[in-house]
Amino acid sequence: MSRRYTELFNELIKNQEKKRLRRVRKLIDGPTSVETVVDGKPTLAFCSNDYLGFANHPALKESLIDGIKKCGAGSGASHLISGHNVTHNNFENKFAHIFRNIVGECQSLLFSTGYMANLAVITSLTSSFSENQKITIFSEELNHASLIDGIRLAKQQNNVKVVIYKHKNLEVLESLILQDESKFRLIVTDGVFSMDGDLAPIPELVCLAKKHDILVLVDDAHGFGVLGEQGCGILDYYNFESGDALSERLIYLGTLGKAAGVSGAFVVASPSIIEWIIQQGRSYIYTTAAPPFIAYALTENLDLILANERRFKLKKNIRYFKRLMRPSNWDLLPSDTAIQPLILGDNDTALMVDEFLLSKGIWVPAIRPPTVPEGASRLRVTLSAAHSFEHINRLVSALNEFTKR
Ligand SMILES: Cc1ncc(COP(=O)(O)O)c(C=O)c1O
Repeated sequence: MSRRYTELFNELIKNQEKKRLRRVRKLIDGPTSVETVVDGKPTLAFCSNDYLGFANHPALKESLIDGIKKCGAGSGASHLISGHNVTHNNFENKFAHIFRNIVGECQSLLFSTGYMANLAVITSLTSSFSENQKITIFSEELNHASLIDGIRLAKQQNNVKVVIYKHKNLEVLESLILQDESKFRLIVTDGVFSMDGDLAPIPELVCLAKKHDILVLVDDAHGFGVLGEQGCGILDYYNFESGDALSERLIYLGTLGKAAGVSGAFVVASPSIIEWIIQQGRSYIYTTAAPPFIAYALTENLDLILANERRFKLKKNIRYFKRLMRPSNWDLLPSDTAIQPLILGDNDTALMVDEFLLSKGIWVPAIRPPTVPEGASRLRVTLSAAHSFEHINRLVSALNEFTKR
């Protein structure tokens, strides 16, 4: 690279630093765990999405090893060339079987990551129309970056109109729908909002979607495994049943690198929509299939992942943390999930608290724009079933100590 380019990028990085927006990767030594080693120091972590503590679970690790013994290290090609292994198929059949009780007739599709799944779903759903046919996507203002990027790509490829609606404000959404004349319409929302921790009002959204004949995409990356009687996520939490025939209207996306502890994502939808994504989703078609051993381990351990015990422990931890925080002056958002954000406002303050906690051996990452809106920088406390009450006591004591300095 010529000197000119080196200088250009150094200048850009310096500007990030001035605005207190430069991100630094911390170095973890050892497996994902709430008690870990960060940059060489023992640290108590409140930042992983490993909500149930499965990322280092012996049964999952054993199954991954078994899976490698049975089907090797890699898939060798994309699903549509020669990479579609029987373990991928078993995974998809098992997930579809479970979700049939919630959404009705459906199929499921496995992806390497949630990011790629969102790109594939949004671009393929909107790629089915002739150029002069109007398409509108109604997008929640707090949607995850992968949904936003999927929508941006769809907009470039297919002349899609994008309407952003206020967080959880369905009155505003309905008024925007009434002003819109497109024949093909899609509402896109997170299930659990990844930086606020609150839930999308799915039953009301589905009613609205039925009333105006609109499709809905729910990205439940932070709900699958954590919410609902059966641990199946936000649709399970809201008690949807097969009789609601939700799959005619709703596309559900769950991820497998968070509560499920491994990696990947899956989409559940009507068999025709799944078939269309297989035909059209470029981030499904033009990428090597995830190693089959991952699908094998997730399928083998699905009952363990969805078992009650760890979900109950996580709920207890959430209640305990909120109870301890109640008398404090911290601006805790009203979330009942594992994502408990402390709003701090500017980047300097967020980084100051982050650094103070780190000096006490506690890791809670500062989240800054563009991940959250300007002026809404925060600490994102993430709780896990693997935390003990003792761990939570340590965090709350350190936060109290910061306010008394
Ligand atoms: C709401 C949401 N959707 C999608 C993703 C992307 O999933 P993955 O990490 O599997 O790419 C994430 C997180 O990282 C997320 O928070």
